[in-house]
Amino acid sequence: MVQDWFKDAIFYEVFVRAYADSNGDGIGDLLGLTSKLDYLKELGVDALWLLPISPSPLRDDGYDCSNYVDVHPDYGTLEDYRTLVEEAHKRGLRIIVELIPNHSSDQHAWFQASRDPAHPEHDKYRDWYVWSDTDQRYADARIIFLDYEPSNWTYDEVRGMYYWHRFFHHQPDLNYENPEVQRAMMRVLQFWIDQGVDGIRIDAPPYLYEREGTSCENLPETHAYLKRLRAFVDAYAPGTMLLSEANQWPEDVVAYMGEGDEMHMNFHFPLMPRIFMALARADRTPIEQIMARTPDLPESCQWGTFLRCHDELTLEMVTPEERAFMWEVYAPEARMRLNLGIRRRLAPLLDNDVRRIQVANSILLTFIGSPFLYYGDEIGMGDNIWLEDRDGLRTPMQWEDGPNAGFSTASKESLSDPVIEDPVYGYKQVNVKAQEADPDSLLNWTRWVLSVRKQHTAFGRGRLHLLSPENRAILAYVRQDKEQSILLLHNLSATRQETTLELPDGGGQLADLLSGEVLVSAASTTLPVALEPYGYRWLKLG
Ligand code: NOJ
Ligand code: CA
Repeated sequence: MVQDWFKDAIFYEVFVRAYADSNGDGIGDLLGLTSKLDYLKELGVDALWLLPISPSPLRDDGYDCSNYVDVHPDYGTLEDYRTLVEEAHKRGLRIIVELIPNHSSDQHAWFQASRDPAHPEHDKYRDWYVWSDTDQRYADARIIFLDYEPSNWTYDEVRGMYYWHRFFHHQPDLNYENPEVQRAMMRVLQFWIDQGVDGIRIDAPPYLYEREGTSCENLPETHAYLKRLRAFVDAYAPGTMLLSEANQWPEDVVAYMGEGDEMHMNFHFPLMPRIFMALARADRTPIEQIMARTPDLPESCQWGTFLRCHDELTLEMVTPEERAFMWEVYAPEARMRLNLGIRRRLAPLLDNDVRRIQVANSILLTFIGSPFLYYGDEIGMGDNIWLEDRDGLRTPMQWEDGPNAGFSTASKESLSDPVIEDPVYGYKQVNVKAQEADPDSLLNWTRWVLSVRKQHTAFGRGRLHLLSPENRAILAYVRQDKEQSILLLHNLSATRQETTLELPDGGGQLADLLSGEVLVSAASTTLPVALEPYGYRWLKLG
């Protein structure tokens, strides 16, 4: 098996609960997702990342896990999970599941035993969570869910102590000082490998350990534990990819790759808002700035890139001025903002302007790393900012214009989340079936560009050379590996732009990968370029 398959992969993030309901109870499930594998294969993605599927009270859509080694009954059974994997593998699709090591739900049996001195297993579990007599410890750690939590400590009446939590108060942090906890999470990892996985996304890795006088993020102890997880995977199931979600500055994130002995992948969080910033300013500078401080990765590692995901568009890794700008442009209404971010989907963020959606996706698909698409964005789904927390980004997939958008046969009232019905983004207007029939749809465009990307290894494996044309509304770069050199051009502005490029390796033929035409035969190293508003070109050199 190719061990670094993830370098060539296009990932698709799917919220099982909202994707397809196989048994008519109003809730998406694993067999529903299984029934959509042909759609996903045809879309052209290679690996599906499933949001949490384990038992949970669902106060954080499963990131509040109450049993790490089972499937939530809403979603089916472990057998259904294995069926999904088998059917996915038959089609050459890979499956990524979540490991949530930092915290469990307060409903987890471990926490119930830990908090309650009268519990028969209290002695065993008392130190499995981070307990304290005071709420004054670790005062330098920031609060992440600013809109919901006043403190990282919550007082527990039963234990008569405070417990530590970096996220919601119902998600107590596990205590990694305790070797039992270290081993327990390793067994969870082993369990999911045994069920069949191709990769694991590690939720919130920066926060495993706490140390007084620090931000309690990215500590050496945390890295040491993550390296142990990796060593286990390499010994037990080599080729299983570990994808970490460290939402940090690039110089801190590279530590999560170690020397190729920690995580295989990490998302490049700070790049994402800068793609939006560059589009809003019609100026590539923000992208250049973040790449200037992005170190090279170990050869065996890879960035994960994305435009949107199931969380708010995070503005944690920008300056306060940049955040204010982003909020003003992309979240003019208070309800669109959440914590330090923006709770909107891709199409509404970009004013449903297909040119902007396409140019943003073109950057995503051709810049560094392996791209992650968020379910529904391939058809330009909208959001519902009036739902709570991040629920408005997680509404049912819009398959067709029939009842419940074809997501479920249940009555409308019993859907776990309402489908979008507004006049612009509602399922009558925006759905898979209609877009399959329309050759000019966003869905068919997405299928096409994914298929072109897949034919060229330089996108996943090549080096990135940023070019510096005088016209800053043009983002131009070359992706190059041993086989190919591809010149990528993007117009970040709403007006036609021209410039002259200095090509690194001289002129020659340029084949337009998207139109098939042989564009220029330039003998010189300078290339005059004109791009339509939000235009983009993928040009193979030589
Ligand atoms: C990151 C996840 O993406 C987010 O949805 C979740 O709320 C937090 N981690 C806590 O697990
Ligand atoms: Ca169901």
